[in-house]
Amino acid sequence: MKLTIKATATPTKNIPFVFFLFENTDITKEPFFKLLAKGEREYLSSIRSHLNIKEKESRVFFMPATERRVIVVGLGPMKDFTQWKAGFATRIAVQAARKEKAKDIAFWAGSIGNEKETLNFFETVAANAAMANFEFVKYKTVPKDGFSFLELIEAVYDKKNRAVEEGLRRGVVIGEEINAARDLTNTPGGDMTPEMLAAHAVKIGKQNPGISVTVLDEKKIKSLGMGGVIGMGQGSDAPPRFIVMEYLKGAKNDKPIVLVGKGVTFDSGGLNLKPDEHIYEMHMDMSGGASVIHTIAAAARLGLKKNIIALIPAVENMVSGKSVRPGDVLKTMNGKTIEVMNTDAEGRVILSDALEYSKKYKPALVVDVATLTGASMVALGLRYSALFTTSKQLEDEFRRVGEETGDRVWPLPLHEDFEENVKGTFGDWANVGKPDRMGGAITAAVFLWQFIKGTPWVHLDIAPRMTAMDEEFLAKGAAGAPIRLLVRFLEEGKEN
Ligand code: BES
Ligand code: MN
Ligand code: ZN
Repeated sequence: MKLTIKATATPTKNIPFVFFLFENTDITKEPFFKLLAKGEREYLSSIRSHLNIKEKESRVFFMPATERRVIVVGLGPMKDFTQWKAGFATRIAVQAARKEKAKDIAFWAGSIGNEKETLNFFETVAANAAMANFEFVKYKTVPKDGFSFLELIEAVYDKKNRAVEEGLRRGVVIGEEINAARDLTNTPGGDMTPEMLAAHAVKIGKQNPGISVTVLDEKKIKSLGMGGVIGMGQGSDAPPRFIVMEYLKGAKNDKPIVLVGKGVTFDSGGLNLKPDEHIYEMHMDMSGGASVIHTIAAAARLGLKKNIIALIPAVENMVSGKSVRPGDVLKTMNGKTIEVMNTDAEGRVILSDALEYSKKYKPALVVDVATLTGASMVALGLRYSALFTTSKQLEDEFRRVGEETGDRVWPLPLHEDFEENVKGTFGDWANVGKPDRMGGAITAAVFLWQFIKGTPWVHLDIAPRMTAMDEEFLAKGAAGAPIRLLVRFLEEGKEN
């Protein structure tokens, strides 16, 4: 499923052409139309009244003259068009081409505004093309005629355009990193323990010059006083790890951005065991960790001039005679204690140590990414991740970049009033809200806040975006959020 996107003036003969058409437009007026053979142009002109394809739909037309297939994707009204819609339409085109068992397709790629807009636009297009060309097939027998993936997209121009080519190049890199994160996330818990997750991070460090990786083992984690990580991991036979990745290509005294990713490699709930319907898919509870590992990999491959750190506390939340008990009190790295009211609220406990650890970098900004609460899915549905921050500027920036790239985020409140909910009875803090479970995503965010107050901070609860929905033209399983958002945010660099 390695996808190459190549800019060219002359597409390979007879490969499927993709036309992206706005509502009520005439295919014969498209710049791409003139590249078709005469017989194809005649044929398409004769059926042009059938080419009004609805938004989010596609149709394949067979050209009798040449046997070429033409794939038409509807874009809806021109006035409502956005960058994200272009990315989504690209997914539809790629899926349609894969259904046709095509290996190579072509679409028109001209400038769409100023240089920056064009670059961002084609970055989104290419990233989404790669995302649609992915499936988790590692555990499947290869079918006789192989899996059906695209190998090449020819982006056809009439005038060479650096911004288009650069956008496509960057988009493919981002798409590849997203797919690598999806592979990692989809891997079953038995094959992805904290040690294995750490080994993966080490491999990423070896592959990408500029990234250095340090893995802290159980002994080291203990000696740093990370009682949260130790406590939530102690029920498992697989020992915890704390993964540190550093990419320092910014100016020497530029404060870094620290990305913190939840790395629960399997969340059984612990002694507060999850019921049947909720335990399935909990091998994906390291989605946040996978996304920050591959965000930093993308940053290195794109050569961003930034200082970026990724921290991943990695544990398996399991049931055994050694498990943390409801009522146990854990001492975290900052010296404060947490009363474990519910062993299934493990994410916030391990993240509290990671947030404390982040302070040693004197960060300009800390962004944590975690599949933290089912409550965020109840609040927002499955299309938006929950965003928490006290900075209006960061809120606006993340929302804007999210809408653009398709990794959408929506704010929920962070206010000191909620602190009442997380005050402990026998410890400083309680890991679940009192007196009830209302607003659980907010309770979790307010809990985390206690460990990072005073540092610019954004918390993304990505539980809603852990897996792809049926109607989004992606393979089942991990969705790869929010890598597009993080990379674009790092590229544009307005953290302070
Ligand atoms: N990893 C889960 C949250 C989750 C649920 C993510 C479904 C993705 C899909 C988290 O550790 C958890 O179990 N949260 C509890 C918190 C509760 C015990 C306060 C929840 O949401 O039920
Ligand atoms: Mn849990
Ligand atoms: Zn969890």
